Amino acid sequence: MRKPLVAGNWKMNKTISEARQLTIDLIHELREIESVEVVLCPPFTALTAVEESISKTNIKLGAQNIYWKNSGAFTGEISPVMVAELCRYVIIGHSERRAYFGENDETVNWKMKSALEHNLIPIMCVGETLDENEAGRTDEVVSRQVKNGLVGIDPKIISGNVISLVLAYEPVWAIGTGKAATVEDADGVITNIVRRSLSNIFGDELSKRVQVLYGGSVNGDNAGEFFAVENIDGALVGGASLKAMEFAKIVQAAVS
Ligand code: PGA
Repeated sequence: MRKPLVAGNWKMNKTISEARQLTIDLIHELREIESVEVVLCPPFTALTAVEESISKTNIKLGAQNIYWKNSGAFTGEISPVMVAELCRYVIIGHSERRAYFGENDETVNWKMKSALEHNLIPIMCVGETLDENEAGRTDEVVSRQVKNGLVGIDPKIISGNVISLVLAYEPVWAIGTGKAATVEDADGVITNIVRRSLSNIFGDELSKRVQVLYGGSVNGDNAGEFFAVENIDGALVGGASLKAMEFAKIVQAAVS
């Protein structure tokens, strides 16, 4: 029912020429794949170059962040209007934004509303830190992040033909560490916390339409185990998305 989605979050990596080359390599590796939604999220400076390179493919473009205002005196920020000229998707509330750039549930919610207003599909990230995990607070933290991030959001975004919401469960301790969550743990949080929170907000039927991804040290070798789980619809990939063959292997693992 839900199409698998694999998104590559390039973070603060790749110059324009490097981004172009990686995209060309990826297109070459991915040319046969249609049953998976593939989204590339390069840094802002490379969006145009990647957009040009993927224009004749079904690969989609995403940004890694937006500001919540449309325009104005906000030095250094990029507005949803600007991003929507190029992108279909935008990552919102990544844990690195929360940890290093002061983002919190409230600003995540503003960004969510602003993205949706401009027809961007937000990939909203949630996940507990190691301390929270060890203190047994995963349920409380993740359900709070889902609930607060989606406050005031119209269920219409998931009731029509186009479903404009993706969630990514990314335990902070698994990001960039090479230590992915176990499939059982990821499935447990996604099924019992993320999906249950979505049901509380949108109801059982509508929430079943939302794609929920796992993120945190996904690679070509472990991706298939996550994708075999019914409630995990794909992955948000950091490090492994910077290598064409590795990323293609992940996408291939999502082909059902
Ligand atoms: P990682 O990053 O795949 O390098 O762990 C995932 C993410 O930050 O989205």
